[in-house]
Amino acid sequence: MDKLVIRGGHRISGNITASGSKNTSLPIIAATLLTGDGTFSLHRIPDLQDITTFSQLLRHLGSEITFSDNTLQISNRNVKNIQAPYELVKKMRASIYVLGPMLARFGHARVSLPGGCAFGPRPIDLHLMAMEKLGATISIETGFIDATIHGKKLQGGIIDFPVSSVGATGNALMAAVLAEGTTTINNAAAEPEIVTLCKFLIKMGAKIKGTGTTELEIEGAHSLKSIEFDNVFDRIETGTLLAAAAITGGSITINNVDPEQMKSVLKKFIHAGCIIETSNNSITLKSPEKLLPTDVTAKPYPAFPTDMQAQWIALMTQANGISHITDKVYHERFNHIPELNRLGAHIEIHKNQAIVDGPKPLSGAIVMSTDLRASASLVLAGLVAEGTTEVLRVYHLDRGYEKIEKKLNSLGADISREKYNEF
Ligand code: UD1
Repeated sequence: MDKLVIRGGHRISGNITASGSKNTSLPIIAATLLTGDGTFSLHRIPDLQDITTFSQLLRHLGSEITFSDNTLQISNRNVKNIQAPYELVKKMRASIYVLGPMLARFGHARVSLPGGCAFGPRPIDLHLMAMEKLGATISIETGFIDATIHGKKLQGGIIDFPVSSVGATGNALMAAVLAEGTTTINNAAAEPEIVTLCKFLIKMGAKIKGTGTTELEIEGAHSLKSIEFDNVFDRIETGTLLAAAAITGGSITINNVDPEQMKSVLKKFIHAGCIIETSNNSITLKSPEKLLPTDVTAKPYPAFPTDMQAQWIALMTQANGISHITDKVYHERFNHIPELNRLGAHIEIHKNQAIVDGPKPLSGAIVMSTDLRASASLVLAGLVAEGTTEVLRVYHLDRGYEKIEKKLNSLGADISREKYNEF
C-alpha cells in the first residue's frame, strides 16, 4: 500500500490549475449510456481512481473506452449486459448512477446494492422511489436492485424528494430524459454537479427546464445523440488547495475555476481573515497573520459543502479561538477527528457538531485515512505539523484527488509517496 510522508512547516504558495471535477465526471460518464449512437469525447476528466473504477464498470457493461491526456472517449454501441456486479459497485457507491440511464435505454437494469460507508448510513431509497415514480417495478433480491419497465418506455411523473439528494436527482434526470411525457422533480439538488449534468443532457438533445433551481421539468425525448463536452473544475479540490495555503500562511492563485460556484466557501475564508481576490476564472488567497475562528454549517448547495467540512476542521485547528463546524448532510462524518487529535488538535464532537479549540501546535505522527475528504484533512494538518506526518491508506485520497502530492510539492510542500506493508 502507499502512504504519504509529509515533512511539515513549508508554506504553500504559487499558481496552480484546478483539475476537472470528479463528481461531475461520474454522472456525465453514466449519461453516455443513454445512447448507442456515435462516440462521446469528454475533456478535462481527472485521472484518478474513481474514474478508473467507473470505467471498469462501464466496460463490464460493454462500453468501449479510451482515456488519455484527460480526454475520455466512450462508445456504448455494444452495451448489452444490464448487470452491475458487486465486485465493482462495492468499490464506489456512485456506481448507482448507471441505474437510471440503463433502465431508460434498455427497460431493465440490475445493480448490486452498494455496501456501507465509512461515514454513516447512505441509503439509496430516493433513487429507487424516483424510478418507481417513472413507472419502474423494483425488487431487491440476492443483493441486487432489479428494475424493470413493463411497457416500452418509462412514463413521465412527479417526483417529490423529501430531502435534497445529488445522486437521486442525477439518476431521476437520466431516467426522465428518455421517458414518455413530462417529469417534474421537486426539491431537486441544485449543486453545480447537477447543473453540469443538465447542460450535458441538454447538449445530447434532452429538454430540461429549471437548470440550477430546485424544480426541474423534463420533456422526454425519443432519442439522444453523442457529443463532445468540456467538464468543469473541481470545486472541492479547489477549496482544499485554498485551505492548504491558508493553514501554512501562504498565498495561492488557482486558475481555470468559476468563483461563482465557490461563494459560500470563499465567504468563510474571508471571515477567517484571508484576503480573497477573484477574476472570472481565477481565485487568489492571501493568508492573514492570524486565522480567525469561523463557524460553518454544511448543507446542500449553495451552502457550505459537506465535502469541505473535514478540511475546514483541519484549518480551524490553527485559528485563534473556538470554531463550531456542523454537518447537516452527514451527521456522522467525523472519522478524521480522532486522527487530528492524535496530531495535537483539540476537537470535541457533540452530535453532528465539531468544536475546535485553536490554535494548537500540531506535531507529526502516523495517522490513518478513513475516507476521501478525511484523508485530505490529515494532509492539511501534516503540512503545518512539526516534523514528519505519515498518512496511511492513501488509496482513499487517490480516489478523488488528481496528483495531489505533485500539485502540493509544486507549491512548496515536501511530500513523498512510499510503499508500506500494513500488517
Ligand atoms: C454526493 C457526492 C458526495 C457528497 C454528497 C453531498 C458524488 C459522487 N458524491 O453524494 O461527495 O458528499 O453528494 O453533497 O457526487 N439520502 C437518502 N436517500 C437516498 C440518497 C440520499 O436519504 O436515496 C440522503 C443521504 O443520506 C444524505 C443526503 O441525502 O444525508 C444527501 O446525500 P446525496 O446528495 O444523495 O449524496 P450522494 O449523491 O451520494
